Amino acid sequence: MIRATNLRSLSSVPGADAIARPRGRDLSASELQTFVAELAERPELWIDLVKHDASQRLYEQLLGDDHLTAWLICWMDDQDTGFHDHDVSAGAVSVVRGAVLEERLTLAGPPRTRVLRAGESFHFCPADIHRVRHAQSDPAVTLHVYSPPLLRMGAYMVQDDGVLVRHSVSHTEELRPLAQASAGVRS
Ligand SMILES: [Fe+2]
Repeated sequence: MIRATNLRSLSSVPGADAIARPRGRDLSASELQTFVAELAERPELWIDLVKHDASQRLYEQLLGDDHLTAWLICWMDDQDTGFHDHDVSAGAVSVVRGAVLEERLTLAGPPRTRVLRAGESFHFCPADIHRVRHAQSDPAVTLHVYSPPLLRMGAYMVQDDGVLVRHSVSHTEELRPLAQASAGVRS
């Protein structure tokens, strides 16, 4: 998923670690959604990090410890993760500005699609395969949290022969759609 413009593993912006959450263990997907909604209510922790680049999504790490990582991601134009999973991590996303479109991969038909706008959030489990794209015209800003911390992801593409394959990628690599795929590499 990620090309970090400011990768600070195991560090946090001041105040982010004070948000209430279970301590000493990994968080469930629903606990992550509660946490990311609270983070969204604290713009003073991340608003100064918002910036956009038409050539790539921009990422800023807000929090990192043994059980949780949190990121700010800025979107514009046609920026798109492609289909991916999060290996062993559950996650949650809160949209704080603009809108993104999330697709869940299916085998029986077209992806299940939903548009998420500012004020909305969703969560996913390690087994879920999804794709997130910028939606609408105005730039978007999203908050993402992962537990355990996101280290690797699976990026999906369809080969020329129609076979779906998964590539294991580091969280430091930017996800984006692969050339041949409606499913592709890397929110
Ligand atoms: Fe994702």
